[in-house]
Amino acid sequence: MQHLIDLNDVTTEEIEQLFELTDEMKENPDEFSAVMDNKTLVMLFAKPSTRTRLSFETGMTQLGGHGIFFEMGSSQLSRGEPISDVSQVMSRYEDAIMARLFDHEEMIELAENADVPVVNGLTDLLHPCQALTDLYTLHEKDRLDTIAFVGDGNNVAHSLMQASAKMDVDCRIATPEGMEPDEEIQERVSDADVTVTNDPYEAVDGATAVYSDVFVSMGEEDEREEKLAEFDGFQVDQDLMDAARDDAVFMHCLPAHRGEEVTAEVADGPQSVIFDQAENRMHVQKAILHTLVNE
Ligand code: CP
Ligand code: NVA
Repeated sequence: MQHLIDLNDVTTEEIEQLFELTDEMKENPDEFSAVMDNKTLVMLFAKPSTRTRLSFETGMTQLGGHGIFFEMGSSQLSRGEPISDVSQVMSRYEDAIMARLFDHEEMIELAENADVPVVNGLTDLLHPCQALTDLYTLHEKDRLDTIAFVGDGNNVAHSLMQASAKMDVDCRIATPEGMEPDEEIQERVSDADVTVTNDPYEAVDGATAVYSDVFVSMGEEDEREEKLAEFDGFQVDQDLMDAARDDAVFMHCLPAHRGEEVTAEVADGPQSVIFDQAENRMHVQKAILHTLVNE
């Protein structure tokens, strides 16, 4: 792996090795406390974040290195400096770049111009670190079998589809009509056990995990009222959880909006693993950084 931009470019073996390394690093953190000694990760943000910023920055500290929070709005990027120039400048100082951007094409441009590894911390199209963490969390909980994602067919759903395809996981995506996943991504996973439906109950039947994401993604704030209306019937409530397997877990990438995409009863109930997912973002990303920078 040179960069982590799109799970389509990552092999099954690479994901398996990453999970093994995550297990090892989570179990024996002290053995890895100097692997990033004197190394820096710049974290470029064009959108808000709680988990991505905290987990990468804390992860770098735990590996003996340093994470630099770099907000697009306060940099020269906001005054028109080309992303290709910024990428080359960053490559002269940093050992790795993590970025959260709107346009996926900009992420590709960033990586194409970088001499150091680039990690995608979310674009409008993809969220690979999240999906790797989600599958790792299910593997840890012995539920890596059938995922039902109920919500918007965008970044989180796309990366879950790609990760599931690589790991031979049955992945069902339930969206309202017109919000189905990107056709090119559907096409790329067409040989895998990935299905798309407009019926949440069909999706969760037999599922070992039910997954929810916000109805209004970052950058869509102006469409809030229309989107909430379109998602009528797609809230994950206890009735929908009860239609999945008895031992199914509830997952959410967070932030969660209780009363919108999920009820408080489910988000804070006994089946919920949302904070294990949030914690695992850091463990999985430490393994990603160690792999990309040192191996
Ligand atoms: N799930 C996730 O990426 O969270 P943040 O937006 O808080 O980083
Ligand atoms: N789909 C959401 C994911 C947040 C982690 C968004 O893009 O805002």
